[in-house]
Amino acid sequence: APVMAGRDFLSNLDMTPQELRAVMDTAHSMKRGEWRGVRPLSGLSLALVFEKASLRTRTTFDVGMYQLGGHAITLSSQEVGLGTRERVSDVARNLERWVDGVMGRVYLQGTLQELADHAGVPIINGLSDMLHPAQLLADYQTIEEEFGSDLRGKRVVYIGDGNNLANSHIHMSVLTGTDVTIVTPVGYEPNGAVALDAVRRGASVTLTNDLAAVEGADVLYTDVWISMGMEAEADIRRRAFRGYQVTPQMLETIAPDGIFLHCLPAHYGEETVPEATEHPKSRVFDEAENRLHAQKALLYHVMGLMKPRW
Ligand code: CP
Ligand code: NVA
Repeated sequence: APVMAGRDFLSNLDMTPQELRAVMDTAHSMKRGEWRGVRPLSGLSLALVFEKASLRTRTTFDVGMYQLGGHAITLSSQEVGLGTRERVSDVARNLERWVDGVMGRVYLQGTLQELADHAGVPIINGLSDMLHPAQLLADYQTIEEEFGSDLRGKRVVYIGDGNNLANSHIHMSVLTGTDVTIVTPVGYEPNGAVALDAVRRGASVTLTNDLAAVEGADVLYTDVWISMGMEAEADIRRRAFRGYQVTPQMLETIAPDGIFLHCLPAHYGEETVPEATEHPKSRVFDEAENRLHAQKALLYHVMGLMKPRW
C-alpha cells in the first residue's frame, strides 16, 4: 500500500528510513516488470513545471505517469512564468483545481515550499538550487543493485561542487547509514546547515578539500561544476575545480568493486571524461534508467490512493 499518500516530496528527509525502504522495494519490483499492466494512477494527472532545461527528469516523470495509467502535462517557464507572469501562490491555487500533483524544477527551493503552502495536492521536487531528491532515489536504487539493501558503512564519496546533489547525498546518509564524504575545492563546500543537521541526526558526514578521500570509495559520484544558472561563473569555476575531474585513473583508486555514478548531463572535459562514464566501473546509464523506476515508485507511494475527481 502507498506509504506517503498525499504528501509533498521536497527533500529526501520528507521520508522516513522505512518509507524509503518501501519506495526502493517498489522501484526494484517495477524494474523487474512485476507491475506491468497495473494502473494505480488511472485518471490522475501530474503537472511538470519547469524553470530550467531537462532531459531525464521530464521524460521519466512523463513516461512514468503514463505507465501507471495517469497523465502528465509539461509546462515550460515561457508558458507559466512562475513568479513573473503570475504569483507562485496563484499558480498553486490554479493547478490544484485541475491536477492531482505537481512536479517542479525551479531555481529556488523556496518556490517549491510556496507551491506546497498554497496547493492542496502533493508537490514533488524535480531539482532546486538546494536539493535533487528524486535523483537520489534513482542513485540509491543503483547502489542497492550493486551492494544490496543494507548500505550501512558503505563509503559514498561525492567529488566536485558542493551543490544540490551534494546536499541531497548528505540527506541520504541520514536515511541509510552510508558514510558520505564530500570532496570540494575550498570555497565550494556543501550547505553547512544541511551537513550540521545531518551530523546531529547521527549521520556520518565528512567535508574535505583533500582528493585523497576518493581512495577506496565504494561509490564515487560527481556532477557538473557549472550548474544551470551559474554560467556567469564558468571561468572562475573551471579554474577552481581543476584536479577534481573523475578520470579512468581516479577510478583505479576506488574500491575494486566500487562504482562510478553521475546524475548527468555530463560536461565532458570538466568534471569527467567519456572514458570514465564508459569505464567498466561506471553505472551511469543504469542510474539514468533507474530515474524511471524510482520515480514511478515515488509516484505510486505519493498518489496511489487518490481517486480521480471527475
Ligand atoms: N539528472 C537530471 O536531473 O537530468 P535532467 O537535468 O536532464 O533532468
Ligand atoms: N547540479 C546540476 C544538476 C543537473 C541535473 C544543476 O543544478 O544544474
